[in-house]
Amino acid sequence: MGESLVIASGKGGVGKTSVSINLAVALAQLGKKVTILDADIEMANVELRLRLDGAGVSLHDVLAGKANIMEAIYDGPGGLKVVPCGTSLEGLRSADQSRLGDVLRELLEKAETDLLIIDAPAGLGASLSALAVAQEMLLVVNPEIASVADAMKVKATYEELDGHLLGVVVNRVTYDEEDLKIEEIEALLEADVIAVVPEDREIKKAASYREPLVLVKPYSDAAKAITKLARDISDNKYGPAEGHKEDIVSRLLSGLFGRKKG
Ligand SMILES: Nc1ncnc2c1ncn2[C@@H]1O[C@H](COP(=O)(O)OP(=O)(O)O)[C@@H](O)[C@H]1O
Ligand SMILES: [Mg+2]
Repeated sequence: MGESLVIASGKGGVGKTSVSINLAVALAQLGKKVTILDADIEMANVELRLRLDGAGVSLHDVLAGKANIMEAIYDGPGGLKVVPCGTSLEGLRSADQSRLGDVLRELLEKAETDLLIIDAPAGLGASLSALAVAQEMLLVVNPEIASVADAMKVKATYEELDGHLLGVVVNRVTYDEEDLKIEEIEALLEADVIAVVPEDREIKKAASYREPLVLVKPYSDAAKAITKLARDISDNKYGPAEGHKEDIVSRLLSGLFGRKKG
């Protein structure tokens, strides 16, 4: 079974999808088998950013019980596999979000992937407990107090679910005076910042061309920062944490019922 990493945030719009896509492609380029799954069920856009919209079966169909998750895996750029979420309102309405945990577990069991990267919705939505199926979390924040304050709640909730925070990615760093300093963010979140991604308009341009930045502008500042993070993760610099790879079912149960594992 492959490993899994959920990319989460307190606020929306901080760069989760940008980080997810580029980190996934960068890891695939390092020779890993990587799958990205868009679990931002209400505001999905991975497929729009990777030119896979209208591909066919999507996570919405799987959650609606109309298809199997293995039918929803597509070839994406740079050797990446992609599970699109579906972007239609009808699809969203028929999706049963309570099935997400089971679907993720099935995907992790059956898909031949070294790493599943999950682009999560912002905040504490109901899906956070399902997303605790993932062993590790990356929190994306902007260097602003509101972004970090909201991220603190996501971190606390995920840890209550027995998940492990791999680290924090600070995105859209400008080094202006108004920016929170990296040390301040680390102190507030009681966690390590493991990547600092600058404000870089190349990210926006790549998004508008619907191409991953690390493929079209690998030497842009943002692409270099995310590629370095991919290399560090691939080198296993950050974990997984000790004793952290227990059975995911017991993890989920202990999360749902507040039991501590023995
Ligand atoms: N480092 C960055 N520099 C400049 N623009 C960025 C950066 N990261 C993200 N953006 C832009 O911010 C917007 C929101 O990013 P997105 O990845 O969709 O956030 P989220 O998934 O958290 O909602 C997009 O328009 C994206 O192009
Ligand atoms: Mg997003």
